[in-house]
Amino acid sequence: MATTAALPDVHPLLKDFLGRRVHTLLIDGRPVEAASGKTFATLNPATGETLGVVCEADGADVDRAVAAARAALEGPWSKMSPAEREKVLHKAADLLEARAEAFAQLETLDNGKPIREAKNGDLPLAIGLLRYFGGWPTKIHGETTPVSVPYFPGAKFLHYTVREPVGVVGAIIPWNFPLLMAVERLAPALACGNAVVLKPAEQTPLSALWLGELLLEAGVPAGVVNVVPGYGPTAGAAIARHGQIDKVTFTGSTEVGREVVKASAGNMKRISMELGGKSPNIVFADADLEAAAKGIFMGIFYNQGQCCSAGSRVFIERPAYDKMVSALAERAKTVKQGNPLDPKTHMGPLVSAEQRDRVLAYIESGKKEGAQLLSGGAAAAGPGYFIQPTVFGGVKDEMKISREEIFGPVVAVMPFDTIDEVMARANSSDYGLVAAVWTKDVKKAHQAAAKLKAGTVWINCYHFVDAAAPWGGVKQSGYGREKGQYALENYTSLKSVWVDLN
Ligand code: NAI
Ligand code: MG
Repeated sequence: MATTAALPDVHPLLKDFLGRRVHTLLIDGRPVEAASGKTFATLNPATGETLGVVCEADGADVDRAVAAARAALEGPWSKMSPAEREKVLHKAADLLEARAEAFAQLETLDNGKPIREAKNGDLPLAIGLLRYFGGWPTKIHGETTPVSVPYFPGAKFLHYTVREPVGVVGAIIPWNFPLLMAVERLAPALACGNAVVLKPAEQTPLSALWLGELLLEAGVPAGVVNVVPGYGPTAGAAIARHGQIDKVTFTGSTEVGREVVKASAGNMKRISMELGGKSPNIVFADADLEAAAKGIFMGIFYNQGQCCSAGSRVFIERPAYDKMVSALAERAKTVKQGNPLDPKTHMGPLVSAEQRDRVLAYIESGKKEGAQLLSGGAAAAGPGYFIQPTVFGGVKDEMKISREEIFGPVVAVMPFDTIDEVMARANSSDYGLVAAVWTKDVKKAHQAAAKLKAGTVWINCYHFVDAAAPWGGVKQSGYGREKGQYALENYTSLKSVWVDLN
């Protein structure tokens, strides 16, 4: 049974926020309790203690949130000019920047990620997304089209297109980058003039709730952003099947993604899906091996390996294999695990006991199937949900640890001999989110980039993302692109207007 922790030494604003008796839902710009009166606890995974008590939304609350979103959409939000919407998003970016320290601490406390990652990764990226999409409202426009009508020769028409908001957007997001995922959905959705019902993950609901309040303060009208923390089968499923939600954006497991697609069919809502991965990180022997070792390391151990884009299958060209494997195993032993609020900590706990146990089961399966355990391989000491950074060598393609998404600090390392062989093996996954190639040979790099079946290919780098660069997968890693101008496709629908000039 979890116990409530004494408040840690954090930013005064965060101390106030965490001191609340209960964290309410945000519906129609107001803090409200769940209709059922239910609450749930969110834990600090570094200690297993309760960090906050949160109102638990279900279908009835989703209904209220959708009604508020619909009313806001048809009311004040659509009456704001694009320039005013830009101002609001930029104000939100400024507010988040001013409170970056407090938000970073909250991410670390609720999710377990090391503060240095929250501060240097999640927060700047979230602020960047608000700024990037904050620039779009005045630039989203239609076009005129030189139409010809074959059955009316010589006739003149004016034809133009208009990009309109899709309407009410339901966003179901996971726990690995709680604030970043929320902003990644909200920024483009709001830039395009939609209203949103956001369901954060039950493991990490706090930063989305705090962000909702910040957006109100920035001038987003009440009801435009509603935040309804709750569980997947209740609150999440209610969003997926809701008849008054026009679009769902989902990030999480492929398994749940499939359920969301099915549920969306009822009212033919539009969907975009950002799902799992088992991404190949390929090192040719001619690469800068030191840079590659760092890249592999970051690729799999960033955020405790809880990244959809984790480089969890590492292929190393045989002449470099032994050297690279021992470099990785050695480096894994130097990782500093501990209190994630300590700026010197490299690696925090996994998000939950459930996730830790899931990952430990994969480690056991790797051992059983005969992979060679080179470092780690067990839970780490401490009351929290820590796992040692784990490197398996000599992994075979057919082993479970080489096929399934582990979502933890576990890497499968394998040798290869030729480029054709490694391309085929890299592509032999059901997933296709990202891939990386390390080589000094430009030709080889581009040949590989062309062949790899992935939404993103990194050449001599890993985990680089930006608000302006599209992000998404192929195959069972999902469809649709978040970020960049491509995200605007997700959040607008195109209207075709004809004017008879004859
Ligand atoms: P999940 O897919 O169950 O959770 C993601 C979100 O979906 C959460 O907000 C959850 O409440 C919601 N959800 C769950 N069931 C739902 C339903 N029936 N209808 C609508 N929404 C629902 O992921 P979970 O269980 O937390 O993690 C399991 C595995 O999923 C991980 O080990 C990892 O492999 C993968 N995953 C991938 C992520 C990614 O970024 N692509 C993020 C989180 C998990
Ligand atoms: Mg938590």
